[in-house]
Amino acid sequence: MKFIALALAFANAIHAQSLAEALTQAKVSTLASLLASDTAVQTALATFKGTLFAPSDAALAATVASGFNPSDMTLLTTVLTYHAVPNTVFPSATQATGDDYLLTAQGSEIMTTVNSTGVFLTTGATKVAAVTGTFPFEGGLVHVVDTTLIPPSSVVILAKTAGLSQFVDAVVAAGLGDAVATLKNVTILAPTNEAFAAIAETAKSLTREQLQQVLLAHVIPGGFAHAAEIAAAKELPSVPTSNTAASLDVKYDGTNVLVSVVGVSGAVPAKVLMADVLADNVLVHVIDRVLIPNLSAAPPASGTAAARSPVAAATGTTRAAATGTATAAATTKASAGAAAIVSYLAAALAFGLSL
Ligand SMILES: *[C@@H]1O[C@H](CO)[C@@H](O)[C@H](O)[C@H]1NC(C)=O
Ligand SMILES: *[C@@H]1O[C@H](CO)[C@@H](O)[C@H](O)[C@H]1NC(C)=O
Ligand SMILES: *[C@@H]1O[C@H](CO)[C@@H](O)[C@H](O)[C@H]1NC(C)=O
Repeated sequence: MKFIALALAFANAIHAQSLAEALTQAKVSTLASLLASDTAVQTALATFKGTLFAPSDAALAATVASGFNPSDMTLLTTVLTYHAVPNTVFPSATQATGDDYLLTAQGSEIMTTVNSTGVFLTTGATKVAAVTGTFPFEGGLVHVVDTTLIPPSSVVILAKTAGLSQFVDAVVAAGLGDAVATLKNVTILAPTNEAFAAIAETAKSLTREQLQQVLLAHVIPGGFAHAAEIAAAKELPSVPTSNTAASLDVKYDGTNVLVSVVGVSGAVPAKVLMADVLADNVLVHVIDRVLIPNLSAAPPASGTAAARSPVAAATGTTRAAATGTATAAATTKASAGAAAIVSYLAAALAFGLSL
């Protein structure tokens, strides 16, 4: 033990190697040549600081054998940037054990598990990658992984795969499909089919604009609000949503994360059934009730108003980030019951990219 510590100190003192040298030392030649073929990624890596996950040659060979075409540069950039976590050297001192989330350069997260067996990564798809070797470089760490990391599915594909068909139908009926597909850095509360069935009568009376108002109240812009962070904060009052007229009260009652619309009396709070489901650039919590905000009357029939409001609201980024408060408040990882409910849904998911 003492010897290893001394050897490491000695190695660090004499030589902080470059990223390229670390990749050579790690014997990940396929990755090295893919990185070299992608000029955008190459440029970004020249000054990269953080954690780079490096699929082994065998891992990349298996991915190519399953249909991945590395000369599709858009796909390649998406996959490679999902392996880079800027400015974070992982594992951090605070994640001795347990689960945590890393935000990648691609914009989606990786769930990390550190336990007595080792370090594991879950990407929202079914596969779990294991870290098989670690190589320091001057800007951080290269971790060799035994499985290529594929970014999670889009929220719409995820919802379809996970059987949240009523949610998908409602998004399509509201004309929000395109807006939802381009959302980035948001948390979405996705009601179950049973939740939609419970409001079937109300839903029938809603205009398309009112349905948009309902759905946009389920989108929390400004980052990913993880269950553990909510639990640590206990309560997040007045969380803004993409429906500018509706904000949410989000709290942890010791067992469940509960969500209700601020200023709407009499409604039973929605309960988070499955927390922290990773989607492409989105974090999803599955909830057991549809949140119904106060609805304004439909605007006069005019295509302009309908076309303008939902997209602007859904992609708006200037609102105060209440989820940032949650993150700041979360200094420790609470053992939130809700955070543990992840795997059943994750196990049901297909890869988001057609490999
Ligand atoms: C550690 O986590 C990995 C990945 O989830 C799992 O396969 C393994 O069984 C875990 N080991 C222990 C000791 O819990
Ligand atoms: C996500 O939103 C938060 C809060 O606004 C911001 O701090 C963070 O930089 C954003 N992340 C990305 C990847 O845009
Ligand atoms: C919702 O409507 C009720 C009843 O009209 C009203 O008391 C409440 O203030 C409204 N809430 C919001 C957030 O507009």
